[in-house]
This record gives sequence, structure tokens and C-alpha cells, in this order.
Amino acid sequence: MIIDQVSSIKMMVNEFAAFARMPASNPAFTSLSEIIKEVIEVYRQSANQVNIEYHNFSSVDNLYLDRDQIKRVFINLIDNAIAALATIKDPEIRIIVSNNKILEMVSIEVIDNGTGISSEVMTRLFEPYFSTKGTKGTGLGLTIVKQIITDHAGYIRVSSSSNNGAKFLMELPTYQYESLVRVSRDTIDETERGIV
Ligand SMILES: Nc1ncnc2c1ncn2[C@@H]1O[C@H](COP(=O)(O)OP(=O)(O)OP(=O)(O)O)[C@@H](O)[C@H]1O
Ligand SMILES: [Mg+2]
Repeated sequence: MIIDQVSSIKMMVNEFAAFARMPASNPAFTSLSEIIKEVIEVYRQSANQVNIEYHNFSSVDNLYLDRDQIKRVFINLIDNAIAALATIKDPEIRIIVSNNKILEMVSIEVIDNGTGISSEVMTRLFEPYFSTKGTKGTGLGLTIVKQIITDHAGYIRVSSSSNNGAKFLMELPTYQYESLVRVSRDTIDETERGIV
């Protein structure tokens, strides 16, 4: 039932990403920890060989988020981590959330102890349709993640060395950024139409 729900969200977003632009995000104040816990619960059932840890140190939990899209971010990152953990003894994923009050940002780290990312793959990581998984991957997973985080006025960075796992660090604003998002989307629209 929960797994059905996850695959329908996956399908919806993949179709949009493959055939058009991602739908504009539709944010509302939402509990980030609830989204994370829901996704983890699904993977604790479907990938029970992987130890998934979640540590929440943030004093802010309600963020201005599109629930389905942020769920999709965690699904894509955890899917990737699980694939990178296939041959690893004691596979582990850690999700660590903290916040910076001065910068008004929440930091979310998704860390695995998998195969890691080589420097060649690293430079192409967020490229649409780039995949090392052959027919098993669309190569859209991280493109979608980056688009969603950008639409939420956030940032994503990656660090990794071969054989030493990967760490995806995302930062999301704790303030309501509606006007900021609208401005950036309008700029993109105008750029696409060749106006600026
Ligand atoms: N946690 C990770 N550890 C090691 N390599 C990774 C990790 N996450 C992504 N990658 C690499 O980045 C590539 C691109 O990832 P992306 O999620 O965009 O596409 P994909 O996983 O190949 O396809 P799909 O998401 O459709 O299953 C992957 O093929 C893989 O080589
Ligand atoms: Mg993927």
C-alpha cells in the first residue's frame, strides 16, 4: 500500500521530467520529519538489509514544502544509496537534519557507506539521462532532485571519494520564500522564451 503510493509518485514525476518541465511546486507548511519518517518506513520494509538511521537535531520542523516533491527527493536519494550499497558489508544510510538559525536554513545530509562516486561520474551527476546503470536507470533521478530543491529555493552539494560512500547535503530555507521562487521561475520562463 505505502509502496504503491511511492511508485505512483515516482511515475508521476518521471513522466513530467521526461516529457515536459517539472510541475511548479505547490508548497505549504509541512513537517519535514514526518516526510522523512514516512519514506524511511517504506525502505525499512523493502530494503531491510540496509540499516537506515535518522538523527534530527533541528529546532525547526515545519517548512514551506511541496510534500510529494520532497518525498520524491528522499526516494531518489535513498534509491541511489541502496544501489551503491548492493555489494557492501554492513550497508548503512544516515539522514542527519540540523538547522542554522542565523542563515535561516535547515541542512539535510543523506550519507551512505556505498561504493562512492568517481571523479568522472561526479562531474556528470546531475546531467539529465546520465546513468551508470544501463537500462536499469533513467538518469533522471538526481536531475529531478536538483530541480525540486532549486524550486524550494534550496541548494544541493555532493561529496564523495571512490570506496568511501557518498554524502548529499541539501539546504532548505526556514522562511517563506514564495516571492523568491516566483521571481526565479519568471526569470527562467523569460530566458527560455529568449526575452533576457
Ligand atoms: N549514492 C550514490 N553512490 C554512488 N553513485 C551514485 C549515488 N547516487 C548517484 N550515483 C551515480 O549517479 C548516477 C546518476 O544518478 P541518477 O539518480 O540521476 O540516475 P540513476 O540512478 O542512474 O537512474 P534512476 O534514478 O532513474 O534510477 C547513477 O547512475 C550513479 O552512477
Ligand atoms: Mg537514481
